[in-house]
Amino acid sequence: MRSRALPGRGQGQSPSLSSACGASHQESQNVERLQNKVAVITGGCSGIGLATTELFLAEGASVLVADVQDDRGAELEARFQGRVKFRHCDVTSEADIAGAMQAAVDHFSGLDLLFNNAGAGGSPLMLEEMTGEAWDRTQSLLLRSVALGMRYAIPHMRARGGGAIVNTASIAGLQAGFARIAYSVAKAGVIHLTKTAAAELARYNIRVNAICPGYILTSIFTASTGISGAAADGANAALRQIAPHAQPIHAAGSPEHIARACLYLICPEAEFVTGTHLVVDGGMTIGPRSSWDPEAPSAIRDVLVKARASSTPAV
Ligand SMILES: NC(=O)c1ccc[n+]([C@@H]2O[C@H](COP(=O)([O-])OP(=O)(O)OC[C@H]3O[C@@H](n4cnc5c(N)ncnc54)[C@H](O)[C@@H]3O)[C@@H](O)[C@H]2O)c1
Repeated sequence: MRSRALPGRGQGQSPSLSSACGASHQESQNVERLQNKVAVITGGCSGIGLATTELFLAEGASVLVADVQDDRGAELEARFQGRVKFRHCDVTSEADIAGAMQAAVDHFSGLDLLFNNAGAGGSPLMLEEMTGEAWDRTQSLLLRSVALGMRYAIPHMRARGGGAIVNTASIAGLQAGFARIAYSVAKAGVIHLTKTAAAELARYNIRVNAICPGYILTSIFTASTGISGAAADGANAALRQIAPHAQPIHAAGSPEHIARACLYLICPEAEFVTGTHLVVDGGMTIGPRSSWDPEAPSAIRDVLVKARASSTPAV
């Protein structure tokens, strides 16, 4: 299977950058970037995790998919025989996480790459209604799971002489207003966890980075709000319609956009990148909507336009 070129690796790339990445442009077109690598992908049965599983496979990796969707896991194993192993793993369970990392080693003889990605919307409660139980459940799903995923991957990666980890955060971890409070705080935690883990793990030749997706069309929105059946179909159709207009780049954010960013961070071309977070949001966090959409209301701009129109020109 031949790999696809990474976006941005065009004809004009300088030879010095090519050699700094460890491969010439010609070589990078022909070599599978993850050849002989073993990856664990949590939440690999759907959305971002599924797109990343498919891309890692296309780039030569073997993938252990750790998820709670057993039917979809079985379908993946049948579709990619011998290259995908499914392991039932609820990432809120420490034993399940440890078991998934061990299963990758048992099945594929080692572990090189980890994409800590499983997640859902978390508690919908506002702070004034929050309970300790709801808070803990969200942090366990979205933050503790990432810490423990890394913790149980470390010994196996050290045994291979190093590795690379990508954690899924969110733009909700960077700015208020994109999600509810428990989810947003967990994702902010993932960004800082990534930095501190990168500092600890550099000595073992393990790189750790995070991705902050913007608005990506997956089932997370309806699944997390408990909407199902025809109502979910209707909501998903409406979400698809607004997606291209939600950010400065007028295209719907797709799981493949995030998979390609994850591939970059995890592959050897990013050998000098650790402890950072990559925002992949079509520009959604550049500034308020009025900064990129001339049709969007801006109270300050309206006041100034009116004032300029009525002011006496300076002599
Ligand atoms: N879609 C977006 O707009 C968006 C934006 C920012 C961040 N994210 C993050 O991306 C990640 C993937 O979400 P997605 O949008 O692909 O959603 P998705 O619903 O399509 O996929 C989530 C996957 O995680 C699995 N999962 C859920 N709970 C689990 C658990 N306890 N244990 C193991 N697996 C579990 C699900 O079965 C599913 O396969 C999540 O961490 C989410 O917070 C998504």
